[in-house]
Amino acid sequence: MMDLKIVLLFVSALCLNAAASTQHSCGKQTLVGPPGLSRIVGGREAPEGAWPWQVSIQTVTRHHCGGTILNSLWVLTAAHCFKKYLRLRKDHFQVVVGLNMLSTPGPHTQTRSISKIIMHKDYSDITSDSDVALLLLSSPLKFTDLIQPGCTPHNESHEAALSLSNCFISGWGSTHYKGDTMDSLQEAEVELIDEIRCNQRTWYNGIITENMICAGLQSGGVDTCQGDSGGPLQCYSESEHSFYVVGVTSFGAECGLPYRPGVYSKTSRFAEWLKATQEGARATAHRLTRRLTTALLFAALTLL
Ligand SMILES: *[C@@H]1O[C@H](CO)[C@@H](O)[C@H](O)[C@H]1NC(C)=O
Repeated sequence: MMDLKIVLLFVSALCLNAAASTQHSCGKQTLVGPPGLSRIVGGREAPEGAWPWQVSIQTVTRHHCGGTILNSLWVLTAAHCFKKYLRLRKDHFQVVVGLNMLSTPGPHTQTRSISKIIMHKDYSDITSDSDVALLLLSSPLKFTDLIQPGCTPHNESHEAALSLSNCFISGWGSTHYKGDTMDSLQEAEVELIDEIRCNQRTWYNGIITENMICAGLQSGGVDTCQGDSGGPLQCYSESEHSFYVVGVTSFGAECGLPYRPGVYSKTSRFAEWLKATQEGARATAHRLTRRLTTALLFAALTLL
């Protein structure tokens, strides 16, 4: 009887502890030096560990979309990755991290199932506005040199203060329009293109909303493509020596065309939504944990 009481008290304490765990460092490439001055034009294979927050969202059979690790339980991706697939249940998808070659996951890879898909309520598949979604993983990721969370700006003024330089896109998407996905994770350096320039008549002619940011090169040739959706657009912060994910790959007119750069959901515009959505889910989980803990404590006391 005494033993059971101790076990129950111990389990209660564990529940309280798990609910209180938090998060700190982000955006660090531990295996790769900071970006230098050399420019990469066009894509190339990413070095091992270059983008440790990059995830591959997969169906049973294949790579479906990219995403970004925000912390041990949450992944940021695009809403359009799931909108058309709502009839598929969340257990059709899994999240794979610590991955470089799709065909050869290796011992550093971790795989999680998805316990919740939360699409932004304002997402429109007509305008592509608010193309962001959060995935709650079934169990926490263990961070390693190859698996790290990315940073996101806390708000728009924070983003402006980061003195961002060296922006990169990454993903397993095809290297040309209607092509196959790549086996090895690709990266390319891009320029950020502001909303006004991207909305010019010869560019996207007004369809870019304030929740979007364009990136690429005016001349084309460097772009995200099919299979990169949901993945990160990340820039190096000189002031914080970390990478910040400033965009979520959303859409483009074909791939790599001049005056048609890739379009990304602007993460600084969704900082409040990211925070509120995660806190909302956590509050629900805490209520359940509290109820469970109370029940366990009650059982222990009854057995006294
Ligand atoms: C923006 O974020 C920074 C850094 O977290 C914070 O210090 C600042 O108060 C925020 N500004 C606004 C307007 O919320």
